[in-house]
Amino acid sequence: MQSYDCLIDGRDVPAADGRTFEIVCPSDGKPFAAAARGGKAEVDAAVAAARRALETGDYGRMTPTERGRVLSRMAEAVRDRHAELTALEAMDCGKPTKQAATDINCLARYLEFYGAAADKVHGLQIPFLNDWLVTGIREPHGVTAHIIPWNYPAQIFGRSVGAAIAMGNACVLKPAEDAGLTCLEVAKLALDCGLPAGGLNVVPGIGEEAGAALAHHPDIDFISFTGSPEVGTLIQKAAAERTIGCTLELGGKSAQVVFADADLDHALPIITNAIIQNAGQTCSAGSRVLIESSVFDAVTARLAERFADLRVGTHAMDLDLGPLINRQQHERVARFVERASDLELLAEGRLAGDLPAAGFYATPRLYGPVSPDHYLAQEEVFGPVLVAIPFNDEADAVRIANGTAYGLVAGVWTKDGARQLRVARRLKAGQVYVNGYGAGGGIELPFGGVKRSGHGREKGFEALYEFSQLKTIAIHHG
Ligand code: NAI
Ligand code: MG
Repeated sequence: MQSYDCLIDGRDVPAADGRTFEIVCPSDGKPFAAAARGGKAEVDAAVAAARRALETGDYGRMTPTERGRVLSRMAEAVRDRHAELTALEAMDCGKPTKQAATDINCLARYLEFYGAAADKVHGLQIPFLNDWLVTGIREPHGVTAHIIPWNYPAQIFGRSVGAAIAMGNACVLKPAEDAGLTCLEVAKLALDCGLPAGGLNVVPGIGEEAGAALAHHPDIDFISFTGSPEVGTLIQKAAAERTIGCTLELGGKSAQVVFADADLDHALPIITNAIIQNAGQTCSAGSRVLIESSVFDAVTARLAERFADLRVGTHAMDLDLGPLINRQQHERVARFVERASDLELLAEGRLAGDLPAAGFYATPRLYGPVSPDHYLAQEEVFGPVLVAIPFNDEADAVRIANGTAYGLVAGVWTKDGARQLRVARRLKAGQVYVNGYGAGGGIELPFGGVKRSGHGREKGFEALYEFSQLKTIAIHHG
């Protein structure tokens, strides 16, 4: 069984106390690898290595162009090892292979994008009093902590670490205990691609141990977190104690709003995919579909046909959905479904035959009509459960769409151009798609939440501003 160490200061380092934890494949519930169970000692060493790399090491002396070249080489290295990384991501997360392949493509695209952007972030020159020259320069935060989840480890590595390195931060990454092996593999590739030791360190481990040690470390300068609202709140408190900044990306209950004039042939496959992708374990999953009353029955009938056709299997079977990540998530989704016995189940997909008994499988389900204040229309399930909610008019649609604690992504489906703009502007979400839905969107598109979905923006150019801060230099030249 392969064993993964921490990556600290360019070296493979086991946990000081020799502890490891098992990495389980969600498709059969069996361990297939082990990783060092990092704790405070490893986090201390990783943060110290990052600080040295930045202040006295080769990393801190690199030009933006040189950092960009490292990221560009990493993108190529990821593409060269696409098949291998895809297989690892699929097994680690239990994702259908085609989904894992897309994720590895996205990882390469993030690295390519941030590699090309590294030397294109200009500062400012600000008009001021006569005899003064004022400039604003973008500086890295310093040592950045990256605590990431198990649902898209490779992609989130790319979007978070890629942008941070582009801006010259030295990174310490804590992948999720449930999946994060591709992060360790790609971090090692970074060294081969010329990243100086200490520029990127990875400490695998448990959230309450390595994660908490990292979030509370006295020598980190910024935290980038993606995960649950509960832990996000702890992260923000830890950041507040030291008055450092953080970005939080905490999931959602994203709405797809379907007006009666929508092009259903175009919309329905995308609406279906937005909730079944990664078995619904996607922060930006489109987990509510709001449908204009006059077409509610017709639209849900067509959606139901699609749901009934969906198949769930192992990652290697490469069907529509794979298993959920672990027993805890499996039980969580099962509890949601049990509590939904008062609702009409319009359709349910099926499990493939002969699935490993210990895998964490859940069937995709479509419920409707569901009242907007029903808990299943309010709470994030993080599983393949779609609720259909009827609405009467545009104002009603906007009120229902905005009527949850979250605000990450929304979709609007209508041919009426003025309505597209009106609704898009009124929706409280960090991203709105019109006649499309990105389930997180392209790597170029700024992404992040409002309300309980979090704050700060990742992806695109905007992430480069998040991973840096502006210093104003005012020079009196007489
Ligand atoms: P989580 O929020 O516990 O895990 C996310 C990351 O935070 C992991 O790396 C974990 O090790 C770390 N972590 C956990 N406790 C920590 C602590 N006390 N201090 C520092 N780091 C800590 O999420 P979990 O438990 O895996 O899933 C629970 C629910 O969270 C899911 O059902 C889903 O609703 C939500 N979630 C949302 C995600 C998103 O993409 N927005 C991703 C994963 C989970
Ligand atoms: Mg947790």
